[in-house]
Amino acid sequence: MAILKVARLGHPVLRHKAAPIAKDEIQSPRIQQLIDDMFETMQEYAGIGLAAPQVHEGIRLFVAGVRDADVITPMTEDVDMPFLTVINPEIVPVTKEVVSDWEGCLSIPDIRGQVPRADAVRLRALDRTGKKYELVASGLPARVIQHETDHLDGVVFFDRMKSLETLAFMDEFRRYWAKDHEE
Ligand code: NI
Repeated sequence: MAILKVARLGHPVLRHKAAPIAKDEIQSPRIQQLIDDMFETMQEYAGIGLAAPQVHEGIRLFVAGVRDADVITPMTEDVDMPFLTVINPEIVPVTKEVVSDWEGCLSIPDIRGQVPRADAVRLRALDRTGKKYELVASGLPARVIQHETDHLDGVVFFDRMKSLETLAFMDEFRRYWAKDHEE
């Protein structure tokens, strides 16, 4: 296990479209080690999601979540997202409802902004054994899944903001905005 260096905004790797992972490559020691290292890195920096391009790997893989769990579907709880390994994801909105809420990103440290996202999405992906799975997520897990899938297409949350008016440094976020939020 190792803590990986996280690419910050401005590094070109964050703007490249990542390549799918071949199914027979998923079980390789390189990919399995990368997944372990990404979980360790995400937890070290207190993130709830981390995409492979953020650790300089241009492949369609992200990890997410805040706790161990046997059951991963359905996911609706706001702060209780189970750990997921997500490979070659496809997401489709399952509602027309769009909700704006705060996001941050380990590649854009100490900044928060409000981002509109579909309130619920269906995710189809491969797990770390190469097995297909599907789940429906809403609320925070749906937001995280959309944010991390965007990283695989070279998109960061700034790109999704309707306006940049809510951009805030962490200190100012806590001081002026967090009281409107549950945190
Ligand atoms: Ni991010």
